[in-house]
Amino acid sequence: MSAAVDTVRVALDQRSYDVRIGAHLLETAGTAILAVRPAKRVFVVTDSTVAALHLARLEAGLDAVGLRREVFVQPPGETSKDWAHLGTLLDAILAHRPERGDILLALGGGVIGDMTGVAAALLLRGVDFVQCPTTLLAQVDSSVGGKTAVNTRHGKNLVGAFHQPRLVLCDLGTLDTLPPRELRAGYAETVKYGLIDDPAFFAWCEANAAAVLAGTGDARRTAVRAAVAAKARIVAADERESGVRALLNLGHTFGHALEAETGFGPDLLHGEAVAIGMRQAFDFSAKLGLCAAPDAARVAAHLDATGLPTRLDTQRGFAAQTLIDHMGHDKKVRDGKLTFILARGIGKAFVASDVDGAALHGFMTAEAGR
Ligand code: NAD
Ligand code: GLY
Repeated sequence: MSAAVDTVRVALDQRSYDVRIGAHLLETAGTAILAVRPAKRVFVVTDSTVAALHLARLEAGLDAVGLRREVFVQPPGETSKDWAHLGTLLDAILAHRPERGDILLALGGGVIGDMTGVAAALLLRGVDFVQCPTTLLAQVDSSVGGKTAVNTRHGKNLVGAFHQPRLVLCDLGTLDTLPPRELRAGYAETVKYGLIDDPAFFAWCEANAAAVLAGTGDARRTAVRAAVAAKARIVAADERESGVRALLNLGHTFGHALEAETGFGPDLLHGEAVAIGMRQAFDFSAKLGLCAAPDAARVAAHLDATGLPTRLDTQRGFAAQTLIDHMGHDKKVRDGKLTFILARGIGKAFVASDVDGAALHGFMTAEAGR
């Protein structure tokens, strides 16, 4: 891996920030933080898996510039991203008498990033935070764009805020310890940008997915840089998702139904659900006559080649209507109407809010087997 550091700017007026992508960024995190924001103290939030693997390098980076720190270690996994853990975390931070000039720092995957973001939005009515994403999914998606949330018993990501980080440090070395299944899940959110509006990037993914997953050469850097640049462009155009940002939900309405049905647990990772959902979005688009069938087949073939799931496990007894009901609880429902991201071809995704209910039911029945 080369020693260069790439920087992508997320242009949001006074809330603009840099996403830095490279090796050994944790060891130099203190210098990078002080360059954008004078601070005396950093509240580091992480999970126990990531702490064991990468916290020491971050601590060295903060020590190097005399930044004081307190560390809060959460249990790993989606079940930590809830009200109860958020309340306990805020209480623990408050016990250290934080001041507005202090900074929160998320060291971990999307779970830690999302929860730390909400904590930063709420603490003292809003403090700055820094993202140090350690999963591929978090580097290419969740750490950029300012969506923060926790889950409630009513559903996932239902309580949160738009709160942009001040800096994002994507240390590519952290990905070397990520289990292959988690890497593949993050890859689904990476290739998504090609499917949305960048057919050249999709072609690059077809040629380089194996290198991205294996960590060969500079493939991961190229993939993370391209994904972050795409996300930065879309977020800068539509920070609050009133338009083009909705395209980032490609595969998510279909995928969300499967996640809900499998309990948002380890049986089906978010990125895996998105992979199935993207394949479904293209096949449904082809069925509706919107997208050429060979394009849909090419999407499925590529996702299959990476080892991502692309089909519903019919052994699980999914039912079309139950899945459609789950789609109705998605945050993207407007006036009771489902919104889908469909495609007129690879790199030609669009927002469809007038999907025919009977066509959807027929498609889902064929998918689920009943
Ligand atoms: P995660 O944070 O649960 O991380 C996955 C697993 O990998 C965890 O067990 C974690 O401990 C472990 N891990 C993390 N980094 C590691 C490393 N470097 N080496 C070894 N193990 C490591 O999950 P995720 O996939 O990163 O994120 C999923 C979450 O992100 C979901 O809650 C989802 O809702 C959210 N999300 C948010 C946005 C957004 O825009 N805010 C976008 C997409 C997803
Ligand atoms: N992950 C979707 C978004 O940030 O809008």
